[in-house]
Amino acid sequence: MRLAFAAITISLSCLLGSFAAAAETDAGNTVRGGRLYDKWFKEAKVTPPEGNHIAWPESNTKKSGADTFRCKSCHGWDLLGKDGAYSKGSWVTGIVGVKAAAGRDPAAIVDILKDATHGFGGAIADADLVALATFVSLGQYDMDPFIDRETKKALGDAVVGAGIYETVCAGCHAADGKGVKDAEPMGVISNDNPWETMHKISFGQPAEAMPAMWAFGPGVAGDILAYLQTLPAE
Ligand code: HEC
Ligand code: HEC
Repeated sequence: MRLAFAAITISLSCLLGSFAAAAETDAGNTVRGGRLYDKWFKEAKVTPPEGNHIAWPESNTKKSGADTFRCKSCHGWDLLGKDGAYSKGSWVTGIVGVKAAAGRDPAAIVDILKDATHGFGGAIADADLVALATFVSLGQYDMDPFIDRETKKALGDAVVGAGIYETVCAGCHAADGKGVKDAEPMGVISNDNPWETMHKISFGQPAEAMPAMWAFGPGVAGDILAYLQTLPAE
């Protein structure tokens, strides 16, 4: 899996030639974009928007307000929208995922974010629109090799994950996964929502000094996820 990711990295760096101006900051932009994909207003430290987003469907009355402006609310943590985990439950919108935009020129994705459906021009700073577009273009990866879609069980190596968790994460989250007061216990969130957990392991948590593991590849995040699922789930 790690070798496979190295191959992806190499092909991405070939791809980068085509948008050379952004090349130096692509990794940083990708992980910031991943955090903006969640609560962009928190990551950017701006006032959360009011009311519902223009594209939020009236059929979903379970969610409202600033939450309806988060990319993940319409497009899913697994980036698959109506075809992924949000095909059921309280976040159903019937909206497509963003998979089709992987590898697309970030400038074209910025145009989408400013279009009439999204209306993010102005609300989100231009540099952050570029970060979001970089994430959508370069940061996406398929979570299916790491999470069984039916059982939500992680498919990675929990023993490898334990070593990474204890050296990188436990300083903040503690050995039992309950060390950060405002965060859900790691054993709870990883089992309830493995896609959200994997996204946050890879890209970090909005406006928090939590590391983003994206540069180490999805296999590492998958192994960490597998270990988190063994931690106390209450
Ligand atoms: C309230 C719901 C909603 C939110 C929030 C939202 N989108 Fe979308 N998005 C849509 C809809 C609806 C479409 C399909 C538009 C169409 O088909 O014209 C779409 C399409 C897209 C596409 C094109 C997908 C394709 O197949 O070509 C991208 C990329 C995208 N959104 C990215 C984002 C990003 C990044 C954010 C956060 C900054 C975001 N969206 C927030 C509703 C939303
Ligand atoms: C510097 C401290 C720090 C480190 C190191 C750190 N985190 Fe975090 N983490 C946080 C904080 C702070 C939050 C957000 C709490 C909140 O929601 O306000 C958080 C949130 C999370 C969340 C989301 C919880 C939720 O309720 O939304 C997950 C999952 C997570 N961390 C996993 C990890 C993993 C796995 C690692 C190691 C790869 C890690 N963290 C390393 C500080 C850290």
